[in-house]
Amino acid sequence: MTDAVQTPHVGQTKFAPRVFSGIQPSGGLTLGNYLGALKRFVEMQDQGMEAIYCIVDLHAITTWQDPERLRQQTREAAAAFIAAGVDPKRSILFNQSQVSAHAELAWVFNCVTRLGWMNRMTQFKDKTAGKNAENASLGLYAYPSLMAADILLYHATHVPVGEDQKQHVELTRDIAAKFNHDYKVDFFPMTLPVIEGAATRVMSLRDGSKKMSKSDPSDQSRINLTDDADTIAAKIRKARTDAEVLPDLPEGLKDRPEAKNLVNIYAALSGKSVEEVLAEFAGQGFGAFKPALADLAVAVMSPITSEMQRLMADPAEIDRILGDGADRADAIAQPILARTLDIVGMIRSRR
Ligand code: AMP
Ligand code: TRP
Repeated sequence: MTDAVQTPHVGQTKFAPRVFSGIQPSGGLTLGNYLGALKRFVEMQDQGMEAIYCIVDLHAITTWQDPERLRQQTREAAAAFIAAGVDPKRSILFNQSQVSAHAELAWVFNCVTRLGWMNRMTQFKDKTAGKNAENASLGLYAYPSLMAADILLYHATHVPVGEDQKQHVELTRDIAAKFNHDYKVDFFPMTLPVIEGAATRVMSLRDGSKKMSKSDPSDQSRINLTDDADTIAAKIRKARTDAEVLPDLPEGLKDRPEAKNLVNIYAALSGKSVEEVLAEFAGQGFGAFKPALADLAVAVMSPITSEMQRLMADPAEIDRILGDGADRADAIAQPILARTLDIVGMIRSRR
């Protein structure tokens, strides 16, 4: 178990440990998603924690998605979860829109969340930067409230995410605390973000100041989970770097964002610490380091890529798995939604 799992936590004693996390099917998944999220999802499942993993299609449509591609990307994300090691029997794997309670709880949270809190969300600012924010969807603005609903609908206590999602998990705690306070209950837990490992923020291969993202216009900036071995190797060979050799200590990577990123990726893929990686490569230039990284990336990613392809050949089976996951998720969500509506003062005479 991780430290975070063992941390005693005010107001949480009555909540059994339960993991929840989500990934948007708004494009193909990247190495950033794998190292920052999927790999951690599998580790928490394998530590024996009860885990619920969700492909958040309602979040994806906060920016326009081609309907057929969205369906395809949702199946591809499901295949990536399974290929990475999420076991859909032990854990729950489903797509968000099949459990309508997410949207229903999000509405209640829209009424708890303050505009001032939303205005502080940096991801909304980043996503609308340089664009006309007036033209962004209301859904994109309200997105963190839906994310809080995803998490709290299951009374999830631990949320493994990359660094960029920390603020949203903190907002989830604020929403839970305000709900509990306003209705004088101790109903929602104070969920902890779990942000661990060498790759909580994998950067673009073209620009060490930008996050590796499925929505970056440059395909060279990222490694996709669908890239073949030659493409992965070529992208790493062409990754932007500097002309210096690798230092022997992590401090030597300060102010060298591209070098730091490649070393972090190597560490995360190999399971070694940054110190160990530097001990191995100190004094060597990228002419030596990049081929070693490419070999490692191909060795780790190829089995996942080929398993994904195998799974994608049977879309009906993927849909069946998602449907089964949705039924099991719904069984947990319904009583929590019903109790929430009851607390808020809604008449519930039909159930
Ligand atoms: P998204 O692709 O935005 O739906 O993100 C899904 C999960 O992957 C979240 O936990 C993110 O924090 C994580 N993630 C996305 N991109 C990266 C990245 N470049 N480095 C680390 N984690 C990431
Ligand atoms: N907002 C997350 C992202 O873009 C995806 C997400 C939606 C999520 N709901 C969640 C992550 C609940 C963790 C828990 O990365």
